[in-house]
Amino acid sequence: MSFRLRLIVMSALAVTVAIALVASTVYVLVRAQLYNELDRSLKDRTAQATYVKNLSSPTHCNVNLTSSLAGRLGGYYQTITATGDVLKHFGLPDGTRLPVTKRVRSMTTGRTDAFFTGVTIEIPRGKSVQKQGVRVYTSFLAPDCAIQVARPLTAVTQPLRRVAVALLVVSLGGIGLAVILGWIVAGMALRPVRNMTEASEHVARTRDLSRRIEMRGRDELARLARSFNTMLEALDLSLRSQRQLVADASHELRTPLTTVKTNVEVMLRAELPKEEQKEILRDVSQQIDELAVLVTDIVDLARGVEPNLEVEEVRLDLLVEQAVGRERRLSPRNVFVLDLKPCLVKGVPSRLERAVANLLDNACKWSPPDAEIEVAVEGGTVSVRDHGQGIDDEDLPFVFDRFYRAPSARALPGSGLGLAIVRQVAESHGGQVTVEQPSDGGALLSIVLPCLDESWRSP
Ligand SMILES: Nc1ncnc2c1ncn2[C@@H]1O[C@H](COP(=O)(O)OP(=O)(O)O)[C@@H](O)[C@H]1O
Ligand SMILES: [Mg+2]
Repeated sequence: MSFRLRLIVMSALAVTVAIALVASTVYVLVRAQLYNELDRSLKDRTAQATYVKNLSSPTHCNVNLTSSLAGRLGGYYQTITATGDVLKHFGLPDGTRLPVTKRVRSMTTGRTDAFFTGVTIEIPRGKSVQKQGVRVYTSFLAPDCAIQVARPLTAVTQPLRRVAVALLVVSLGGIGLAVILGWIVAGMALRPVRNMTEASEHVARTRDLSRRIEMRGRDELARLARSFNTMLEALDLSLRSQRQLVADASHELRTPLTTVKTNVEVMLRAELPKEEQKEILRDVSQQIDELAVLVTDIVDLARGVEPNLEVEEVRLDLLVEQAVGRERRLSPRNVFVLDLKPCLVKGVPSRLERAVANLLDNACKWSPPDAEIEVAVEGGTVSVRDHGQGIDDEDLPFVFDRFYRAPSARALPGSGLGLAIVRQVAESHGGQVTVEQPSDGGALLSIVLPCLDESWRSP
């Protein structure tokens, strides 16, 4: 059973129960009311008959209730003697009497209370007899005499039937309306769910992540749809950037591979002097080193697309200090000036180390020998400043792009991926990168990370 159908069945069931309760209560109340009225009218008629008796013969059972008065009042009347004989009767067809039981007879003594009963009488209609349910009120009239007044139960059953039919029609209409409204509301409510199902089926079938769910409103389902869209967007972005990386990487790898291949072919074809052979082999070795760096960088960038799993609290100042120590050993000619303030950030240490190393690497590459490289850490920001040639204005917007290298940098070794990795690391840690050109030359590059606790001080 579909969820929509289940919702409708449940709501229809709830409405049916509610309507049934209301309808049966109304039915019982109306029925009681109708019986009350019938009983009251029987008592009224008895009072009128008693009044007639008092006027005509105060002591005798021979009540002088005329047929015309009985006809005007309506209903059936009979008086009963102590022996149980019907003395007088009005309104009843010939041959038809109200049944006289022991209880009715005992009423003639005047010692018991008047009572109501329901009986069936038989009224002759031509050759056949018609049964009729009547309500009878039996009461004491005079010594040795009781009076019975009766009216057909149709006074109750007919209006009651009309009420029952009306209640049934209204109830069925209400249930029908509940089903229709339930169908519409459930359809409206489930539309986002249906859209989401279709979208995820579409993604599963086609691997196309560009599909989005249409949504309106601010309710829970709209929120669910919105977060589903956000998830699709994130997946789409990550897949696209991965595809782009593969495309860029294969393009960038092709050139050095071609160069290596050409060199090797030259070696194979020509009978070269030993010196030239050595020269070419040195070239090939250097190109292979560069290829190795490029491959490492590409792998690093690809890794950056993965979620940060091993996140921990990292002392940024200590991490930078260690990175500078390593850089010092690699390029002893450079002079590092440190200004490291204690600072705690959340991150993956190996990724942060890589980003800082890339900044230091660039600074060393472009810094003139013996010029100072200033490295500072404060409040989640790592800045590295050198006094080299700086970055041209037209290159500034692109230096963080993958494989971008300023024309002036192309003579130096490098892959153009260093700063792209820095940006990726910063962004995946909820931070950003900035580049500035100080007025007195050189380049100032910074990683700005959210600092965990700025008031943190080393013990
Ligand atoms: N400290 C710096 N001084 C001058 N130019 C820089 C500096 N750092 C980065 N750049 C420029 O940004 C480009 C991209 O840097 P990067 O991504 O590290 O690539 P690579 O170092 O492999 O050339 C460099 O090619 C260079 O043009
Ligand atoms: Mg670099």
